Order: sequence, then structure tokens, then C-alpha cells
Amino acid sequence: MRRSIRPEFASAPAPTEHWPDAQQPRLFLLRRDGVIVAKAKVFPRRITTEEGPLVVAALAGVLCDPDRRGCGYGKAVVRAAFGLVDDGTFGCAFFQTGVAEFYEKLGCRVVTNRLVNSLAVTPSARPFWDEAAMIYPAGFAWPSGEIDTLGPGW
Ligand SMILES: CC(C)(COP(=O)(O)OP(=O)(O)OC[C@H]1O[C@@H](n2cnc3c(N)ncnc32)[C@H](O)[C@@H]1OP(=O)(O)O)[C@@H](O)C(=O)NCCC(=O)NCCS
Repeated sequence: MRRSIRPEFASAPAPTEHWPDAQQPRLFLLRRDGVIVAKAKVFPRRITTEEGPLVVAALAGVLCDPDRRGCGYGKAVVRAAFGLVDDGTFGCAFFQTGVAEFYEKLGCRVVTNRLVNSLAVTPSARPFWDEAAMIYPAGFAWPSGEIDTLGPGW
């Protein structure tokens, strides 16, 4: 008996081992005096835009020690993470945030596309929960129209 492949299974994000080495998930840690003071994660995500599929650097988990804020550590660790875009490993970074002004100073811009997740129980529910969706670099030719994150937000 022939079994059909469920469409959502066929289009699920590829497991990490299918990504090129340079795009494998990375954790950036900034240490001062032997202590981790800031961190940021980057991993690959395939999304669908109205201009076709796109692999983006998904930035997540950006955090600076509350006792060490305002010292440039957050900026430094995010700059290091964006190095994966600057060196061409990814075309752009795509992420959500509640602190858009912090990222604007780092060369990012807010994008206002409608966001959906076609693999969710409720596909029309916005997969990002923070106020702003942003890209880096600001000048990237980001498509207009709907963006499908093809999985949960990050
Ligand atoms: C956002 C966060 C990472 C910033 O870290 P930080 O080390 O305090 O920031 P920096 O000292 O590197 O600041 C860099 C610049 O951004 C500005 N900035 C820092 N936090 C800001 C904020 N919340 N809103 C607007 N601008 C901010 C600084 O004034 C500084 O500006 P300057 O370059 O003109 O002097 C830190 O406040 C944090 O961990 N917040 C809680 C978690 C969070 O919101 N993470 C982001 C999730 S997407």
C-alpha cells in the first residue's frame, strides 16, 4: 500500500546536520575576568517569502549580565554574531526583539511583514512574540509581503 507524505512533514525545516558546517548553530560568549558577561546564539532557519525560500541567520538568546550592562558587552557579542552575515555565511539575519533601538545602532532595521507559521496548529498566529521583527543588515533587499517561518519563532 502506498503511503502519502504529509505536506507539513515534507516542508519541515531540515535537521541541523543537513546544513553546511559554516551555518551550523553557534553560541557566542563574551568573557571578562573569566566570567561570561554576554551571549548570543545564531542558527540557520529556512523561511518562505513571496520571492521564494531564504535561509536566514536566526539570532536568539541575546543577553548581557544585568550587573554589567551599559559597558558595550551586548553590542560586542551581537557584532560578533553578525560577523556570520558580514563574512557571507548568511545573506542576512532575521530575529525578533523588544529593544529595536539597541539593534538599530548596530545597523539593523525593523521589518513589518505579516508573519505566519504554516506548520503550526494555527498557522495565522504570529510566530514571533516580541514587538519588533528585524533584519541585519538594514540595506538587505528584504522582500515585502508575507513571511512563513516554517516552524516556531525564535
Ligand atoms: C539589550 C542588552 C543585550 C544590551 O546590552 P548592553 O551590554 O547593556 O548594551 P551596550 O552597552 O552594548 O549598548 C550598546 C548601545 O546600545 C544602547 N542600548 C543598550 N540597551 C538599550 C536598550 N534597551 N534600548 C535602546 N538602546 C540600548 C546603549 O545606549 C549603547 O548606545 P551607544 O553605542 O550609543 O552608547 C541588555 O540590556 C540585555 O541583556 N537586556 C535584556 C535581554 C534583552 O532584551 N535581550 C535582547 C533580546 S532580542
